[in-house]
Amino acid sequence: MAHYFRVAARDEIPEGQGRCFTVAGRRVAVFRVDDRFYAIDDRCTHAEASLSEGVVRDCQVECPRHGATFDLRSGEATALPATVPVRTYQVRVEGDDVLVAVD
Ligand code: FES
Repeated sequence: MAHYFRVAARDEIPEGQGRCFTVAGRRVAVFRVDDRFYAIDDRCTHAEASLSEGVVRDCQVECPRHGATFDLRSGEATALPATVPVRTYQVRVEGDDVLVAVD
């Protein structure tokens, strides 16, 4: 069963950007888009670049290494060279805290 872990205060994740956190031993990238928060694996499914360092556009992140894009809502790979989706995680905001569910 998933457990929610506090990863940051809301203001620690700037609008339109991602940050990487280690949650229960996993590297999770948390993004803020239009004041909503999304969490995916920080590792690109193509060649393991850090997705939290990518540019965010239209609720998608572009991998900084070869330019694949992933939908932050579904994890779907939306541009080559990646074809495998990234894992997504549920996010909850409680007051000023951002929590991510990891099982
Ligand atoms: S490592 Fe992300 S597209 Fe290649």
